[in-house]
Amino acid sequence: MQPGNRAAVPQAGSPGFSQARCAAPLSRLWHTIGQRTGQILVCDYHTSMKAPILAPSVLAADFSKLAEAQAEIDASGAEWTHLDVMDGIFVPEISFGSKMVADLRPLTRSVFDVHLMTVHPENHIESFARAGADCITFHFEAAVHVHRILDAIRDLDKKAGISIVPSTPVHAIEEILPFADLILVMTVNPGYGGQKLISSCLEKVKKLVSIREEKGYSYLVSVDGGVNQNSAALVREAGADVLVTGEAFFRAPDKAAMTALLKGI
Ligand code: DX5
Ligand code: ZN
Repeated sequence: MQPGNRAAVPQAGSPGFSQARCAAPLSRLWHTIGQRTGQILVCDYHTSMKAPILAPSVLAADFSKLAEAQAEIDASGAEWTHLDVMDGIFVPEISFGSKMVADLRPLTRSVFDVHLMTVHPENHIESFARAGADCITFHFEAAVHVHRILDAIRDLDKKAGISIVPSTPVHAIEEILPFADLILVMTVNPGYGGQKLISSCLEKVKKLVSIREEKGYSYLVSVDGGVNQNSAALVREAGADVLVTGEAFFRAPDKAAMTALLKGI
């Protein structure tokens, strides 16, 4: 495996390449193309862009109305959909599996950001890739052969992310930073929505951003847990590229206004 962003880098003129939004080197452009029947999904994001990506988590939605929840995400201006997969072992609760993701897939062009909170994440990569995930993130704490799992995800043409719980320090993952497309910093202990953000975890966000600058790595830094109208500014100031939000988004009567508020626009 080569360090850095091994997935296809967009060329000028190709779908998703936007000269206006790409002032800095292409290596820093995080680009997602998911090819599906009759559909090309594109998400361009550059770390110098002013507003972070917003990724509402359907975990906080009414599971009897998931199609409506997805439509609300799409209409709000949020770019990604965060899909929290819980196995009842790595975390106490069980949420949903790949069939749910596959059923939502035809309804939207949103980037599907799958967060595996499972033991043996390697057993679930293929089914979620087949279901239409664009980015698959697994927990460092649940994996032994981390490079192999990152490879397996990228071999399926998906972005590969690593997540760390609040008690895991950044130095524990330093060896694998060059191989990751996304680092998901948990700012609550995973397992439940609606918890309070542990603000000391934001130091890890700052550290990851500074390591990326110093070493020229290309991962995005995502923050998950307790991101709401009170904490979002701090999370943005720490340098997060992606803000995951569950309750704050789904409890908001005006989801477009909440999206703008959390993104700081
Ligand atoms: C927690 C999940 C989060 C959670 C975020 O284990 O990974 O994605 O749903 O929800 P809020 O924003 O309510 O903390
Ligand atoms: Zn999550």
